[in-house]
Amino acid sequence: MRTPMIAGNWKMNHNLETGRAVATAVAQGAAELTAAKKVEVIIAPSFVSLSSLSSALKSSPDTVQLAAQNMHWAEKGAYTGDISPSMLLDVGCSHVILGHSERRHVFLESDELINRKVHSAIAHGLKPIVCIGETLDERESNWTEAKNIFQLRAALVGVSAQEMSQVVIAYEPVWAIGTGKTATPEQAQEVHALIRAELKALYNEQVAHATRILYGGSVKPDNIGELLAKNDIDGALVGGASLTADSFLALVAEAAK
Ligand code: PGA
Repeated sequence: MRTPMIAGNWKMNHNLETGRAVATAVAQGAAELTAAKKVEVIIAPSFVSLSSLSSALKSSPDTVQLAAQNMHWAEKGAYTGDISPSMLLDVGCSHVILGHSERRHVFLESDELINRKVHSAIAHGLKPIVCIGETLDERESNWTEAKNIFQLRAALVGVSAQEMSQVVIAYEPVWAIGTGKTATPEQAQEVHALIRAELKALYNEQVAHATRILYGGSVKPDNIGELLAKNDIDGALVGGASLTADSFLALVAEAAK
């Protein structure tokens, strides 16, 4: 049985004060909600809030874990404006989101770069949440399958079956991110099943069965239930609906059912 995961990607939102307030409320609520059924709850705030949230969440490290929204692959060096894996460990991160479509499209991150970051995260003991997904053009041109398989393979080049126990995959159709247009549960399930089949082909049955595959793209409290009901959807990577404690906790409550 795969433990469900709800990861809140705050993107470039919340300052120290509002972030702390939401994170502590989420930690309190999630502790109760997940007492009977385990759900991994993750918050990915901005880099500058990580340290503050880490101390705010010290009393509940098992309830809410911290992720960064990106990182550099190198340990240190002349990379102005960037953040290294060990810096993330230093401020209490357990996870890191890699290859988010906004990094790919706005900041032109390549598949090769993302693969390098995946290796670096694993080597440092950070668990990568690797994002893949097709654009609207690609979906309409029947390239959904090819695009997702390509990005999955490219991100995982050289990653061993054993290392896959650290990796989470997030399927985020680009046309559904921040648009209010969610993939239907059937559309999402179709791609999730495809990803799982590809993991079996790349690795083995065990890896395919154990790897969490999250859905992301306009997930809200009122649509997460039907998404999570699908066999291969193991949780959600959520932007907008993770910004308030009420909405975040409503997502966790659905995953804890
Ligand atoms: P959204 O963002 O939930 O606001 O669509 C999801 C994401 O980009 O991870």
